[in-house]
Amino acid sequence: MATEEEIIARLKPGCICKGIKLYAILQAIEKGAASYEKIAEVTGIGGGSCKSRRCRAKVAELLDTSLQDSDSSIPL
Ligand code: FES
Repeated sequence: MATEEEIIARLKPGCICKGIKLYAILQAIEKGAASYEKIAEVTGIGGGSCKSRRCRAKVAELLDTSLQDSDSSIPL
């Protein structure tokens, strides 16, 4: 059964331009993707009309949080 955080992440946008959910980005980070470029390669984010401005900032925030917080909580 999915946790409440997982359900929220499945609904929240990660890359609005490409319609990719936050959950896909979190999964990529969990599987070891540690840069925007790698996450973009794995998930398909980026290259949209905002020229990656929005999702790049979101990924930077998530990577910062995941480096600082080694527990398993999902930053939303
Ligand atoms: S939000 Fe990802 S390319 Fe615009």
